[in-house]
Amino acid sequence: MHEQTPKLIIQGGNPLRGEIRISGAKNAALPVLCAALLTGDDIRISNVPRLMDITTMISLLKEIGVSVHDNGPSEFVLCAANLAHLTASYDMVKTMRAAILVLGPLLARAGEAYISLPGGCAIGLRPVDQHIKGLEAMGAEITIEHGYIHAVAKQLHGARIVMDIVTVTGTENLMMAATLAHGTTVIENAAREPEIIDLANCLIAMGARIHGAGSDIITIEGVPVLRGAEHAVMPDRIETGTFLAAACATGGDIRLSETDPHLLDAVLDKLTESGASIETGARWINLEMQHRPKPVTLRTAPYPAFPTDMQAQFMSLNCIADGTAVITETIFENRLMHVQELKRMNADIRVEGNTAIIRGIPGLDGAHVMATDLRASASLVIAGLVAQGETVIDRIYHLDRGYEAIEKKLSLLGASIQRAGTH
Ligand code: EPU
Repeated sequence: MHEQTPKLIIQGGNPLRGEIRISGAKNAALPVLCAALLTGDDIRISNVPRLMDITTMISLLKEIGVSVHDNGPSEFVLCAANLAHLTASYDMVKTMRAAILVLGPLLARAGEAYISLPGGCAIGLRPVDQHIKGLEAMGAEITIEHGYIHAVAKQLHGARIVMDIVTVTGTENLMMAATLAHGTTVIENAAREPEIIDLANCLIAMGARIHGAGSDIITIEGVPVLRGAEHAVMPDRIETGTFLAAACATGGDIRLSETDPHLLDAVLDKLTESGASIETGARWINLEMQHRPKPVTLRTAPYPAFPTDMQAQFMSLNCIADGTAVITETIFENRLMHVQELKRMNADIRVEGNTAIIRGIPGLDGAHVMATDLRASASLVIAGLVAQGETVIDRIYHLDRGYEAIEKKLSLLGASIQRAGTH
């Protein structure tokens, strides 16, 4: 008997129509949960999405000694009064690389952290040298022992740090560490992603002094202690973009509520270029698509440019476009693995280095395909929704890491999608 892992089964061909609510952002909620390590008071966090990476992060924080109250449906109260175990184990970090986000706060608050060094992962090497370099500039003594980062600092001090690479979690780690450092820290060439602003807003509510979050120079004046606070996580711009791309590809008409169109300028521009009609309000986006998409050529780059986390979904959109598009991935060295799977659905894609040349065809064929990482999985869902016949997507635990109730939301929009197999 062979093992039954969960799969998604999609009957393609239904245009997505209707309205759904967008969840809180995974990549904002993860650092905000870690910010709770910086104080002994209660931190109340709302609009936290229910997905696997959040569950993993909460398990890690509990292991460290944080008390976590799940107030449901999307609210958690965390209290890090007692930090018992200053470690993120290999098992944790290999399941979720964002576990590295406990390094900065633990070091700043407890003076020590022992965090497994992440290895390579499906989408690329993803080193953490910039996190380490920044913390060393702030006075941490860091050694690598048996595959673990051992960081010690009685009291971090302010520093001027010029990042060699724009890194999102690297900027977040250093910003959190600097809130409790002695003196002023300036992070230059900082990441400008909206999730950094969301984290800064939470830290400011806790009493941190931060200026410039959202620009490439962030200044943090350290304070002796931080206090409890309440914070609502920003909407998920990648979930928003994924549903918009799916509606565009299927020739649908959808309304997404509780999102923020300003977070998605580059993505909305590309959807408009593909021929979709888009209307926006303060907290909603409507998209209507009446014909076959036009090809959209794009290049991923740090915010505010086109996000790498939307590249795979636009690959699927381009597969059925009326013409040829070129997609270039510049952030991760191995993030085109969905191409092989899309080709099994008859897509015409040629890869040269980090560039994919996609010659649009009128329709894809349903097939049995395998998810390889979170956003690659989303691209296969979109391909399955437009394909003729049945698509079975294997290894959907990748999808469950980052999308809240994706098949329920798609069903609400009229998709024929079911989960099969045991958990
Ligand atoms: N990099 C280094 N050294 C470092 C840090 C990063 O060389 O010390 C390199 C990476 O290898 C990569 C590039 O810099 O080539 C950018 O990586 P970054 O550090 O910005 O990525 P991250 O912080 O690990 C976050 C998101 C990712 C998203 C990227 C890029 C979280 C928890 N994760 O990762 O989200 O793709 O930024 O925007 O915020 C996803 O949600 O599917 C996902 C992978």
